[in-house]
Amino acid sequence: MGHFARILCAVVAAAVLLCSCGAQTAEFSYDDNAPSLAEAYKDYFRVGCAINTWNLDNPDSPEYKTILKQFNTLVLENESKPDAVHPSEDTYNFANFDKFVDFCEENDIVPRGHTLLWHSQCPDWFFKDGGKEVSADVLIQRIKDHVTTIVSRYKGRVKSWDVVNEVIGDDGQLRYSNWSKIVGDYDGDGDKYDFIETAFIAAHEADPDARLIINDYSLESSSSKAIRMYNAVKKMLEDGVPIDGIGFQMHIGNGQDVAAMTENYQILARLREIKPDLVFEVTEMDMSTYNQDQYGNNIPLTKEQEELHAKTYIDTFNMLMDLSEEGLLDSIIFWGLCDGNSWLNGQRDNYPFLIAREFKLKPEFFDIIDLPRKR
Ligand code: XIL
Repeated sequence: MGHFARILCAVVAAAVLLCSCGAQTAEFSYDDNAPSLAEAYKDYFRVGCAINTWNLDNPDSPEYKTILKQFNTLVLENESKPDAVHPSEDTYNFANFDKFVDFCEENDIVPRGHTLLWHSQCPDWFFKDGGKEVSADVLIQRIKDHVTTIVSRYKGRVKSWDVVNEVIGDDGQLRYSNWSKIVGDYDGDGDKYDFIETAFIAAHEADPDARLIINDYSLESSSSKAIRMYNAVKKMLEDGVPIDGIGFQMHIGNGQDVAAMTENYQILARLREIKPDLVFEVTEMDMSTYNQDQYGNNIPLTKEQEELHAKTYIDTFNMLMDLSEEGLLDSIIFWGLCDGNSWLNGQRDNYPFLIAREFKLKPEFFDIIDLPRKR
């Protein structure tokens, strides 16, 4: 073979190799040849993430293309919370929420509503009457008005609501908040779930087909919290409160004990003895991992941390698929689009997701994509 022919062969071989690698190994979550999480898990659950409406402004942006490529359910990270939607008694701001729901409908994406009542990101006017604390009667009426106005606006469109968020405290008791303090044991039945009951009943009346969720953190990691939630929901279901399911935030950590998580899920699964069609949703998943030197400077993750992250994600997704097979789970949502967007970044650089900064795909993304096929 002549010199020129050899060079030609080498160039052709290199080109073929490049093309075939390109087809198999997409680099970014929005690449045309990137596999899709939503597609890979279509037989198990919807896969989504939390976004902000500015992510929807530019159809050519990585975030916009990633949303359409990777996810089939979405939630707003902040713009549908009480302070954003209902900043004063007579003011409702629906512009961002409307934009979000419209976008979801145009793109066959299921929108979630987060959240109707919460002790945080909630304006103070709810609890004030003139200069003094509001009465239980007035607060109950305000809860009804707030919930009814929002849920009826999106009737038939927002399929699933976090009706209340984080109402169980870290001590395992009902969280002490303005809601529980002021409304108290309104109906005199011995519990202080009355503000929760009021919200669920109003939401159900506004949209009887919407899925109504009680959402909280550490239910998967703390058995005492899972048991406390079990007792609260059991009592309310027995009292006829229209709770459809439990939202597990799943802000978990690298190396989280998956066997313990499985047991805690099963504690709450026993609520099916009272409500056979009770459902779970994973509402805010991330898996915190970061690395710092002795001076508190951010440094790259070690190989061991990366491998543990991949393994914990694999074990977690296997557990979530088990729950789906039990008919308990049909939706999981990551609390952010990619590592760079996570609320966990602050003084520490965090790496909680399957999609890295700049929307680069991590090796563990491909592990998770392959998992359903291996079952
Ligand atoms: C967080 C947002 O991600 C932040 O941007 C905001 O500053 C505070 O709230 N549990 C929840 C979410 O239910 O609403 C929180 O979101 C994260 C913890």
